[in-house]
Amino acid sequence: MLSVVPRPVVVRAPSKVNLHLGVGDLRDDGFHELTSVFQALSLSDDVRVADADSLSVEINGEDARVVPTDRRNLVWQAAELLAERAGRRADVAISIDKGIPVAGGMAGGSADAAATLVALDALWQLGLDRAELAELGAVLGSDVPFSLHGATALGTGRGEQLLPVLSRNTFHWVLALAKGGLSTPTVFRELDRLRAEGNPPRLGGAEALMHALASGDAATLAPLLGNDLQPAALSLAPGLRRTLRAGTTAGALAGIVSGSGPTCAFLCADAEAAVAVGAELAGAGVCRTVRIAHGPVPGARVITHETEH
Ligand code: C5P
Repeated sequence: MLSVVPRPVVVRAPSKVNLHLGVGDLRDDGFHELTSVFQALSLSDDVRVADADSLSVEINGEDARVVPTDRRNLVWQAAELLAERAGRRADVAISIDKGIPVAGGMAGGSADAAATLVALDALWQLGLDRAELAELGAVLGSDVPFSLHGATALGTGRGEQLLPVLSRNTFHWVLALAKGGLSTPTVFRELDRLRAEGNPPRLGGAEALMHALASGDAATLAPLLGNDLQPAALSLAPGLRRTLRAGTTAGALAGIVSGSGPTCAFLCADAEAAVAVGAELAGAGVCRTVRIAHGPVPGARVITHETEH
């Protein structure tokens, strides 16, 4: 009998760094109004899905132990959400190779959720378009639509409403991964506390930064990087000040906390400079480990998909 046997589908999803993260006021729904310029980076997770008798999640990689593999995992929720939409059971085995640090401010969980949506759309041959997947993604988390989108984008609302941003050239980054993680809600709460106590400076608009991206010049871009969550992350993890100093001392053009942290992202002049800064940072004892990455890269995409007849 002729039948289509879906093979495992593997999807790669990028990490992100916020080049500009302007945090507005706390909304009634518990989220903050954001103005975010995201860039997708080559540090990525691979998610593999295959037909199975029931839903399961397996995680491989250095950080695997600390990630839940039950319904608390965003990937599990992504599978159930898409299955419900498709009117079928979420009977798949999901296996994740984690390259993105867990609770690191680089949207690792969102990347996995985005990858799962793309992978299951392919495995189940649903034919949903990116806008439909992004709408489902936004239900799962504010950063999931960007993990689907990739490249460079301006996010507004709670970060889920995206517009593409013109970015010329490839930018080279060194990422300093921290020993532990930081919880995103805790960092937002700390910012609210700091704002209630005093008046920490807020970022202005992102226009100059977007011009610098269009020019493609890393040296012009570097002084314009900014993150309103950085003072909150530094308040919760004061050791990150040393990490940030060490990166610029090592020759990075600029360093910022990535998203809610604790990963620090250093923009470098070129690929060669990134290798040199990475080597020096690795030896400085200011972080768990160092990764080199570049951006922008595409959003979640199928990297193997074969069907057999
Ligand atoms: O959307 P996501 O589930 O990733 O958000 C995690 C938490 O981060 C939210 O529960 C909220 O505390 C905080 N957050 C926020 N404002 C945003 C996005 C996230 O306060 N725009």
